[in-house]
Amino acid sequence: MQVSNQAAGDSGGMPHWSSRFAFIMAAVGSAVGLGNIWKFPYMAGTGGGGAFVLMYLGIVLLFGVPILIAELMLGRMAQRAPAAALAHLGRTHGGTTAWGWIGGMGVIAALLILSFYSVVAGWAVAYIPEMLSGELANANAERTAEVFGALLANPEQLLVWHSIFMVATVAIVAGGVTKGIEAFVTWMMPALFIMLLFLVGYAMVEGEFLRGVAYLFRPDFSAITVDVVIAAAGQAFFSLSIGLGTMLAYGSYLPRDVSIPKTAVTVALADTSVALLAGCAIFPIVFASGLNPGEGPGLVFVTLTVAFGSMPFGMIVGAVFFLLLAVAAITSSISLLEPIVATLKERSGLSRPLLCVLIGLVAWVMGLATVWSFNDWSDVKVLGDRTPFDTIDYVTSSIMLPLGGALMAVFTGWVLSSETLRRELGFDSEALFGFWRFLIRFVAPVGVAAVAIQKILG
Ligand code: PHE
Repeated sequence: MQVSNQAAGDSGGMPHWSSRFAFIMAAVGSAVGLGNIWKFPYMAGTGGGGAFVLMYLGIVLLFGVPILIAELMLGRMAQRAPAAALAHLGRTHGGTTAWGWIGGMGVIAALLILSFYSVVAGWAVAYIPEMLSGELANANAERTAEVFGALLANPEQLLVWHSIFMVATVAIVAGGVTKGIEAFVTWMMPALFIMLLFLVGYAMVEGEFLRGVAYLFRPDFSAITVDVVIAAAGQAFFSLSIGLGTMLAYGSYLPRDVSIPKTAVTVALADTSVALLAGCAIFPIVFASGLNPGEGPGLVFVTLTVAFGSMPFGMIVGAVFFLLLAVAAITSSISLLEPIVATLKERSGLSRPLLCVLIGLVAWVMGLATVWSFNDWSDVKVLGDRTPFDTIDYVTSSIMLPLGGALMAVFTGWVLSSETLRRELGFDSEALFGFWRFLIRFVAPVGVAAVAIQKILG
């Protein structure tokens, strides 16, 4: 394993991953999180089902994977934290450090996302004792919606869970992302996967499985609008953790003998299958219990709890599920905090633990806007008819991440030479390399610009 000491030093001391497998699991840990299990189903539900899912899959394939490859590669080439990495590569390959601003935007996006991510992860943590209390045994959908509504209506309680989650995130990153996290990721991510398979099995037997699956996979082309495309793109970038420097930071710890294209495909496959499994578990239950697919952010909490309520040992199964979801969330939230810390550490010279605490505090305070979006501020509308939470989510996922991703694609495709790229990536075939480069040079930037122009004119 040959990650240089300089890399670790530059990026603030994050230790090397102990093996290729551990690295892949860490990247998967970043990608797989609330985005797959909480956000994907409710976005698919509010986006109309099949049309959204089709766009999502297309975007993951044509934009997501190529940009993920580029981002990991930029990190491994530069061996620096995101902003410095782009500034450095810009200077050495293209004569300007201005590219570093992409990293700056990424840091702001990461901070904004972390602020609401922690609040929502707090809901998952809150549901562990909620399940164990047995209160939801045999509950119908009306009851589970009532319980979830009561949680959202209580800002003090939301704040407690948000605080617990943020403290845990800060503690882990402050300690350096250690072997402990590796153990978490390597055991608990597969456990989550198995749990989801089990829930899909349950949905097959007890839910309206065919209706749920048809809803997800039968595309209604007439339902594809610019807004659906933007939502799907935002979801794809968010779910893959790309466009803001997370994967760039992780790439800087990636050993040279690991194939980046293979790693990227593995991460995207794992990420997408978890999202689709979550959808296949949730929608059959949505239809069987008369819920509305467009329920919004509470969807997973309201539907899966109906299932847990009716199965033997369901309260324990449910508690384990929410524990695994919280762990999946924390392996993502540390990957939001890490690039911010790494970037500021290079600039400020402050110690890693101190920076973690300071940034965690800022994100925690910003999280109040999300906490109150579901109660005291639910009437506050910012962008269009969006609550503060919806606004932060929209601006980050649907604008900043695709923009950041497209800019990194432009840099990779137009500033770095094809010899450099070929050497760094070691694609199996020249044809694949050519296709990837075409996607990065033309499809990603033009696609993002076209959608942006449509939206602005529309
Ligand atoms: N991909 C994570 C999820 O789906 C969220 C995330 C986004 C993490 C961006 C890091 C960077 O939950």
